[in-house]
Amino acid sequence: MKRIVGKHAEYKKLESNILQISQEAKAAKKKYGDVIDATVGMLHKEEGNVFKYEVVDEVLHGLNDSETYHYAPVRGTKDFTEGVFNWVFGENAEGIRKSFKYSVIPTTGGSGAISNSFYNFNDFNQKVLLPNYYWSPYQNFALEANIDLKTFSMYDDLYKFNIADFKEKAIELAKEQGRLCVLLNDPSNNPTGLCMTKDDWKEVIATLNLVNRMDIPAILIHDIAYIDYQMKDSKYSREIFEAYLDLDDEVLAIVVFSGSKTFSLYGFRVGAQIGLSKSQEVIDHFLRVGDYSVRARFSSVSQPGMNVIGKIFTNPVYKQRFLDELHVGTSLLKARASLFLQEAEKLDLQILPYCGGFFISVPTKNKNIFKDLVEDHVYVIPMQDIIRIAISSLCMDEIPELVRKIKKHI
Ligand SMILES: Cc1ncc(COP(=O)(O)O)c(C=O)c1O
Repeated sequence: MKRIVGKHAEYKKLESNILQISQEAKAAKKKYGDVIDATVGMLHKEEGNVFKYEVVDEVLHGLNDSETYHYAPVRGTKDFTEGVFNWVFGENAEGIRKSFKYSVIPTTGGSGAISNSFYNFNDFNQKVLLPNYYWSPYQNFALEANIDLKTFSMYDDLYKFNIADFKEKAIELAKEQGRLCVLLNDPSNNPTGLCMTKDDWKEVIATLNLVNRMDIPAILIHDIAYIDYQMKDSKYSREIFEAYLDLDDEVLAIVVFSGSKTFSLYGFRVGAQIGLSKSQEVIDHFLRVGDYSVRARFSSVSQPGMNVIGKIFTNPVYKQRFLDELHVGTSLLKARASLFLQEAEKLDLQILPYCGGFFISVPTKNKNIFKDLVEDHVYVIPMQDIIRIAISSLCMDEIPELVRKIKKHI
């Protein structure tokens, strides 16, 4: 057989254990009545349907033809870009506006934003630094961009964010390749549920500044996909951005917003990358390469998706309705997480500290944990030495039984 694909594409084989296990769980659920599927990273209601926001649904169905069918502008609408900016930074929005130059580029979900950022802000064969527990598609985005990943230990001995290892690996990598590109998914990390503190963020920013002062380009990709599902008030989930104010002039921060998670618009593929820097020149470069990649890779984003988000952010009535519904969504997660923690405590099951998001993780030494749980009709995502449990798609009734089965096999 002739080599039909390009050389660079020879390695490609999508081995997404998340998607595959999810399919297996769905098939098993059709066959047996007692299957627990804790694999799905979409927020679901207690009755099993996706947690759809009624206000999103209403605005979506009220769009006119041009808002639905026309091509979307590459740079997005102002309602969308400014709306996303204000939403993401919340009370810090004005402060960030004053201190930084910025640009918001609409992308096909958070995935499009990360994928484009990997491609544009690294030389081929360089590495992006990220913690050792991470959402596995990052690996696909990296290989597609001809780069690789390098990890540091997410936790120290006390299960706090391991700032010492972060610093060490960051400086090492920066010196080795003359560039530092860091990816952090915070708050409400997928898969662990970790939320870094403002002090952790100050240390991260100080490290980026240190690298910048070594005359090495420093780029932060901050994936905030689950920011609206932190267990604290939204004011607190945004306070981490106060640490940004200390960023040195030439450092570039790219904040990645996901319309899938914030609005449950999973199928619409809409998100954004927000470039921030104190240097206008850096932001000009960000916009230049970002615009280009949007056009070259997916042309533009979903027009209806972008319009729904833009309308909700600019209409106070819609926005309030959205906030009220978001409160219902986070309360659902909170109730499931509390029950999970309570049951785990009863059975003395150790879990990683959870402070928000769709997932709780449990450390394990059992190499066959996935198989053992499947035999007990439980589907979770195994990752290195943890299992990831999607509380986003569980219902309350399933939780005690799930914890009991995990404890049995852990
Ligand atoms: C950590 C993390 N980042 C980003 C995303 C991006 O999602 P989307 O491309 O649907 O916006 C996800 C989705 O599961 C995620 O878990």
